[in-house]
Amino acid sequence: MKVFVTRRLPGGALDRLAAEHEVEVWPEQLPPGRQELLARAPELEGLLSLLTDPVDAELIGAAPRLRAISNYAVGVDNVDLEAAADRGIPVGNTPDVLTDTTADLAVALMLGISRHLVEGDAYVRRGEWRTWETGLLLGHDLHGATVGIVGFGRIGRAVGRRLEGFGCEILHTSSSGGVALGELLDRSDFVSVHSPLTAETRGLIGDEALARMKPTAYLVNTARGPIVDSEALGRALHAGRIAGAALDVTDPEPLPGGHPLLEAPNLLVLPHLGSATQATRARMADMAVDNLLAGLAGEPMPHSVT
Ligand code: DGY
Repeated sequence: MKVFVTRRLPGGALDRLAAEHEVEVWPEQLPPGRQELLARAPELEGLLSLLTDPVDAELIGAAPRLRAISNYAVGVDNVDLEAAADRGIPVGNTPDVLTDTTADLAVALMLGISRHLVEGDAYVRRGEWRTWETGLLLGHDLHGATVGIVGFGRIGRAVGRRLEGFGCEILHTSSSGGVALGELLDRSDFVSVHSPLTAETRGLIGDEALARMKPTAYLVNTARGPIVDSEALGRALHAGRIAGAALDVTDPEPLPGGHPLLEAPNLLVLPHLGSATQATRARMADMAVDNLLAGLAGEPMPHSVT
């Protein structure tokens, strides 16, 4: 069957796909454009997409032979699940294999922003380190802090488990329980976002939520950029309404070099590296290929969201 893979994947997983199907892999660093995707749609039977590829109703509608969509991510907000379900097309994702890797990064961001890791490195490289100083780059402790986890699924829970080792008090809020978001924001020293991006969570952390956070608290987002309102965050950081923010995901994404948010103080930004370890990205590739092979064979995908 004809399969389009929208980027090269790490490891050897694509060889297994190519052994059974006619596979085209998009060779560029940047994602295929809309026209590239639509041009392939009429013949397409299997699609292996990345979170950067909008697999929307128009694309699905233009692909009458499409039998399986496999997304190389746990998040599937780039795929129109309803349009796929209407056509009976299974959509696969890559849960579990990236949980611990992403949770590790969330904790790294908490430490990175609260202990000035980036500023410290830059300070040394600028040649400004002249002596040990009592007041140099003083931060806030993660150990013993109250950490509010917004979205208590696999990754949120994994962050909570790690922070038990730091002696943190863990609060959580999610659609299925925990404390109210307002209480979590009022009480937390760190607020860490782990919800999927949905109509309900888009813009969840905006002016109102940021105003409820303590002025000494940090915001960390390793979930999806649009859950945090970038303009509201910029305002809060400039006004010193929160102590800082560490973002692995942004809105827009990628965040262009001259974006106004980058002018904000006490901000650490990474280019969406949550799952970015060699082992995890290779496991994601295996899982995405397993999903696609099963879907094309008309069998249940090992991990499908529809
Ligand atoms: C995901 O899988 O949804 C992450 O954001 C990328 O690994």
